[in-house]
Amino acid sequence: MDWTVKQRFDIEPFLKQLVSEARALPVSGKVADYIPALARVNPEQVGLALATVDGKLYCAGNATVGFSIQSLSKIFGLVMAMNRAGDSLWQRVHMEPSGLPFNSIVQLDYEHGIPRNPFINAGAILIADVLVSHYSASRQALISFIRQLAGCEQIFADDDVFQSERQHGSRNAAMAYLMKSFGNIEADVEKVLAHYFYQCSVNMSCKQLASSLTFLANRGVQPLTEKVVCSRRDAHRVNAILSTSGMYDQSGEFAFTVGLPAKSGVGGGIVAIVPGYGVICAWSPRLNNFGNSCLGMHMITGIAEQLGLSVY
Ligand code: DON
Repeated sequence: MDWTVKQRFDIEPFLKQLVSEARALPVSGKVADYIPALARVNPEQVGLALATVDGKLYCAGNATVGFSIQSLSKIFGLVMAMNRAGDSLWQRVHMEPSGLPFNSIVQLDYEHGIPRNPFINAGAILIADVLVSHYSASRQALISFIRQLAGCEQIFADDDVFQSERQHGSRNAAMAYLMKSFGNIEADVEKVLAHYFYQCSVNMSCKQLASSLTFLANRGVQPLTEKVVCSRRDAHRVNAILSTSGMYDQSGEFAFTVGLPAKSGVGGGIVAIVPGYGVICAWSPRLNNFGNSCLGMHMITGIAEQLGLSVY
């Protein structure tokens, strides 16, 4: 479907139909239960939002309900770190798919403490180190950045999730100390971990997430405010890494079936960037074996197929 047809297409009823269809599917997948605060979430919720670069916002289902953004926060952290650190960042974290689960530690040892990409946990912890080292109050800087992008001051980290992440964070701590042993973490490891756990525990809705990331569909410029959030080159680079590594070791299949730069989180959220058009955010808490939302995958696949959105 070309651009003009997309403009005429009646999006909101279509999103609502997708949510209804998703709700009627047989139950599949499992809510993340590695911390009690996530295990408690009502698994029946389904939200969908689409924010376009021409300023329109379409919502369906539980699109305004806040949820734990978890790994979706890795996008915000990465953009901030790219803005602060410049190209030297890529000597400390690479841009290759890992081919391993997001919390795997093995590769990190034989690759000398340099994470494969910024979207696996080790990479995001490295990014957290960049932010902790560059900002005197990195958590405040991150939440302000997110609020500014979403155009909403009412976005917070969930303290329950934050405390649980800290208590159950041994594997992330192991990765951080391993990177420190290779000299690839500069700041105090506990401060870096606290930043990482904080960003995982931020709560946002599909509507807020879709709106806040439209700059990635618009060459780095936030469409509504015309503010330059990052350079055009960096927006392309973030989208490139999202395409190869954003859906973890299901990224290849996602490129094959959907064909969009995208990122998932274990809170059940998925964002997909449609360059030149907009951002889709889907949410439903039950996850497949890769840690990606089952119904989120289903709905984003439906939109991409119907609107012909694949970038390939
Ligand atoms: O750090 C962790 O392992 C959790 N907070 C999960 C992060 C996450 O969402 C990974 N992605 N799917």
